[in-house]
Amino acid sequence: MFETLNRQPDDPLLALIGLYRADARAGKVDLGVGVYRDEEGATPIFRAVKEAERRLVAGQATKSYVGPEGDPVFLERLWELTTGPSGRDRAVASLQTPGGSGALRLAADLMARMGVTRIWVGVPTWPNHPAIFKVAGLEVVSHPFFDVPSQSILFDEMMEALKTAEKGDAVLLHASCHNPTGAVLTADQWHALSTLIAERGLLPLIDSAYQGFGRGLEADRAGLCTVLDAVPEALLAISCSKNFGLYRERTGAVFAVTATGDIALSARSNLAALARTAYSMPPDHGAAIVSEILGDDVLKADWMAELDVMRGRVASIRQRLAAGLSRRWQVLTAVAEQEGMFSLLPLAEEDVLRLRAEHAIYMPGSARINIAGLKSAEVDAVVEKFLSL
Ligand code: LMR
Repeated sequence: MFETLNRQPDDPLLALIGLYRADARAGKVDLGVGVYRDEEGATPIFRAVKEAERRLVAGQATKSYVGPEGDPVFLERLWELTTGPSGRDRAVASLQTPGGSGALRLAADLMARMGVTRIWVGVPTWPNHPAIFKVAGLEVVSHPFFDVPSQSILFDEMMEALKTAEKGDAVLLHASCHNPTGAVLTADQWHALSTLIAERGLLPLIDSAYQGFGRGLEADRAGLCTVLDAVPEALLAISCSKNFGLYRERTGAVFAVTATGDIALSARSNLAALARTAYSMPPDHGAAIVSEILGDDVLKADWMAELDVMRGRVASIRQRLAAGLSRRWQVLTAVAEQEGMFSLLPLAEEDVLRLRAEHAIYMPGSARINIAGLKSAEVDAVVEKFLSL
């Protein structure tokens, strides 16, 4: 029976990990998958994570199930980190999930159950977004978001498109550090967008996967908070992969903000039922680490300090890259104003393949670069290779 299955293409981003690993050339450069690397090219385990793990190993009394909802203390602490004052006194259904992708899938499945049929998604976006929504049975409607040649946000075009959305449609938003463009909406734009979403009765699904990698933990939630302050209902998909460096531990959460506490209980029971039939119960190790860190002032301060250093490193590489690349492409001065790990360069796929073949510089065919993958010592040489195209 298996012969009825068609061969599926590899996920281009994940396939790149294998291609990079298999490349034996010295000095190869990985600007592919969104993983933070330090000046030695390592993806370090945060000091606070190591300490939290030590405490867990010493103190954890059982490995029994956590239940489909996960740990309520983790969820409360993550909610406070993600939403701050805007999240207080809201009715919320919370569920611990296997990473941000698990959260997005549950959010999509829940929307399908609620009768949401369409979700508006800006172009470009993370390729897994439309894939997840489609597999959950939602229709993905594209709207303009970013123009790569001019490196500018198509804000008016986006607003015009969203004005045609119908009440009950969902709209995907990136909380900060837009993947793949790094483009930053201004505070005024967040306000205008939130007002439109509220006026048209749209359901925002906010993906927050990089909080702390843009302008800082609080600044990175400002847009999300503006939306929350404006709307009666929202969905949030949270990943702890990058900002706690817990990639393989699959740590995340989905939050549904509802009109009343009673409705939140229904939403939570539906999320739990969906989780039960997908993977039953979430992994707990990563969530236990996050909870331990956020619940301990000393560990939390140390985690924030280390995250600050990471953000500073990425920002400084970003500035140098922008200065170098804009010698050839004036428009790439914009890279300096963008935030987070990614920027999307105006390169043709053949340029991307040439950089890979001739210089062992790896990035996906879209020419999205993970700036966090670059060591300072490599920046000048990498810029020269780009300029030689
Ligand atoms: C990325 O965009 O590189 C990350 O979010 C990793 C992934 O799962 O694609």
